[in-house]
Amino acid sequence: MAERPYIVGNWKMNGTRAMLSEARAIDRAAQRHMKVEVALAPPYTLIHAVHREVEQIGVGAQDCHPGTDGAFTGDISASMLADAGAKFVIVGHSERRMGHGESNELVRQKAQAALSASMRVIMCCGEDAETRKAGRAIQFVTEQLTASLPEMADAAEKLTVAYEPIWAIGTGNNATPADITEMHREIRALLVKLYGEEQGKAVRILYGGSVKPENAREILSADEVGGALVGGASLTADSFMGIALAAGDPLDN
Ligand code: 13P
Repeated sequence: MAERPYIVGNWKMNGTRAMLSEARAIDRAAQRHMKVEVALAPPYTLIHAVHREVEQIGVGAQDCHPGTDGAFTGDISASMLADAGAKFVIVGHSERRMGHGESNELVRQKAQAALSASMRVIMCCGEDAETRKAGRAIQFVTEQLTASLPEMADAAEKLTVAYEPIWAIGTGNNATPADITEMHREIRALLVKLYGEEQGKAVRILYGGSVKPENAREILSADEVGGALVGGASLTADSFMGIALAAGDPLDN
């Protein structure tokens, strides 16, 4: 991969101000490991505080509303997130698609809203266990992404795709490097089809689902893996930076 590996922590619904010390420790460690691009997506309530505490790492949000402003109680727009210091938004996470009934079309609108607010987008996709068992994982992810990816002219430049099989999230059962590479190659082919050769090849494709310091080197060394989207193991600086260090020191294939 020509670009630096991209290691993103998704804190999900975890973290109060007491966790700012972890964000600071992650930032300090990231300053010593510039071979890797490190970012954090804390909950909304910590975005501004983390943004103010850190110098090196990117700060982003876990979701956004598709609109710009208005009477949407409890929602937050992409431009509000940018104002708080966020530089990217994660959209289409399976915990939002399933837990909040988000359709592909809504995810696409959210991605477009983030791009319109000059933010980067991490677009999540991934199949459930039944779909994989039925041998339909590639077809499912291809269709999901086709219907979720934004169509704007500059979309690819600001886009990262994260393949996160639902059965691997928070379970300790990561996908095998061979399965990850197989899926990422299909995603790459789709990106090239949608955005053209040059743009489609420049999009980073991350893997997420039970990435830990112990399995990170093997996963991140797999072909077509541009980094990782990390949940549970991003909550402490020690485990998260263990993953980032592995990303900067891949296995020789
Ligand atoms: P875990 O790393 O806890 O499996 O979560 C992955 C994830 O959902 C990141 O977005």
